Amino acid sequence: MQKEELILILDFCGQYNQLIARRVRECNVYCEIVRHDISAEEVKNKGAKGVIFTGGPASVYGEDAPKCDPKIFELGIPVLGICYGMQLMTHTLGGKVEKADKREYGETQVSFEKSILFDGFGDSNVCLMSHTDYVDTLPQGFEKIAHTESCPFAGIQNTEKNFYGIQFHPEVNNTSDGIKIIDNFVKKICKCSGSWKMSSFAKETVKALKEKIGDGKALCALSGGVDSSVAAALLNEAIGENLTCIFVDHGLLRKNEGDEVEEVFGKRFKSKFVRVDAEKRFLDKLAGVKDPEKKRKIIGEEFIKVFEEEAKKIGTVDYLVQGTIYPDVVESGKGIGATIKSHHNVGGLPDYVDFKEIVEPLRDLFKDEVRKVGRELGIPDYLVDRQPFPGPGLAIRVTEDITKEKLDILRDADYIFREEMEKDGVNKYSNQYFAVLTNVKSVGVMGDYRTYDYMIALRAVTTVDFMTATFTRVPYETLERVSSRIVNEVPHVNRVVYDVTSKPPATIEFE
Ligand code: XMP
Repeated sequence: MQKEELILILDFCGQYNQLIARRVRECNVYCEIVRHDISAEEVKNKGAKGVIFTGGPASVYGEDAPKCDPKIFELGIPVLGICYGMQLMTHTLGGKVEKADKREYGETQVSFEKSILFDGFGDSNVCLMSHTDYVDTLPQGFEKIAHTESCPFAGIQNTEKNFYGIQFHPEVNNTSDGIKIIDNFVKKICKCSGSWKMSSFAKETVKALKEKIGDGKALCALSGGVDSSVAAALLNEAIGENLTCIFVDHGLLRKNEGDEVEEVFGKRFKSKFVRVDAEKRFLDKLAGVKDPEKKRKIIGEEFIKVFEEEAKKIGTVDYLVQGTIYPDVVESGKGIGATIKSHHNVGGLPDYVDFKEIVEPLRDLFKDEVRKVGRELGIPDYLVDRQPFPGPGLAIRVTEDITKEKLDILRDADYIFREEMEKDGVNKYSNQYFAVLTNVKSVGVMGDYRTYDYMIALRAVTTVDFMTATFTRVPYETLERVSSRIVNEVPHVNRVVYDVTSKPPATIEFE
């Protein structure tokens, strides 16, 4: 992968940090998010062509306010400060930041003056503002390049040193054409050529993996999710039959899912594929268990046991392949203060399997980049475009205790819901949608008969990061058809409800 043109994004805990990185990469420039307290020396050693300071919730006068190494401003490389980043730059370089009584929040009309940063942007534009403190006095050498009605310095620059600051957020969609600002910064100011391309990633990674692994053997726990599938596909290209993929079918998968995974990895790929039918084992362990946390724990432990047993049959391997992607890397502690939900996939695996090293070929990529690589490697769209699916599978979508009968009901209802959402194009604006078998039974009437059957809840959310989400505004017509089909086609369901709760206060999953 071509990494020589690097932009570093210093993380001040802003909620949109990953979006900034996404935007930079959309400009075909490679970037990494790093801790805010990275030393100037490290920035220099990494060969960064520019630095972006993110926004963040702190005030520069706060006791624990995150600071940067001031020597970064002496490296001779361009700096763009966004929101808190601009305030910190101002504060560090001798300007003055003031506390305002009121927060300025929302889409705001911003007036622009001439600056290379705003090339192609016009005199005025709607931008997302979200700040309380504001820059009151500029540091020496700076001039104003943007303002709003209530914010005198919405944009500042020091062209001699190539320091730029903006109070609004160019990375979000609410700022129309905001990507142009990022493009101007990375290309016109930092002089990156914009030659980093995803298309070369697959080829170069396969080559690098071939060199690294040679004739060694690798093992991959394949879940059927996008990340482990694409990681396995890269290894399949690189080392072929020296890779063994173990797919634990715990009986908690969606309709047809196990067969779809087998079709691709078992039939089309050169690598060895082991599908372990562990449905009975999992369902026996889960019988009568109602507590969601207990269910998760049982599934996690059982998964490791099954995997370990299968891995033992293979013997020692050199490499364990994991589908870690960039957000996992950032979330697992490189950033500060991030409150991220713990990941409960196949945690702890490395302790149980005899191997020499972990390979994580997707460590640098975002989800949609992973999907692109997957497509390039010939993984079919239905696998590559898969929405997130939790490690514990349908076990956390059947509330309370689980039986095979309930799982089968859920699988059928879920399939209908997904099919209709896709038919009506609602999937384009809903990021995750699924059915849940509630443990509620209610009275209904079918023909002349009274029924007493299960209630299915439909859940669909629109979200960027899955940390917060709103319920998707699914058209009534779609809901009506889904409801009617489920009640008519799936035995033992006589009522369908739609969940209109956002996250928070609810979570996306029911358990
Ligand atoms: P919640 O329910 O916490 O879910 O709002 C947020 C996102 O995480 C997924 N999720 C999981 N993913 N293992 C996973 O790999 C899990 O145990 C798990 N629990 C929730 C959920 O589907 C949603 O996308």
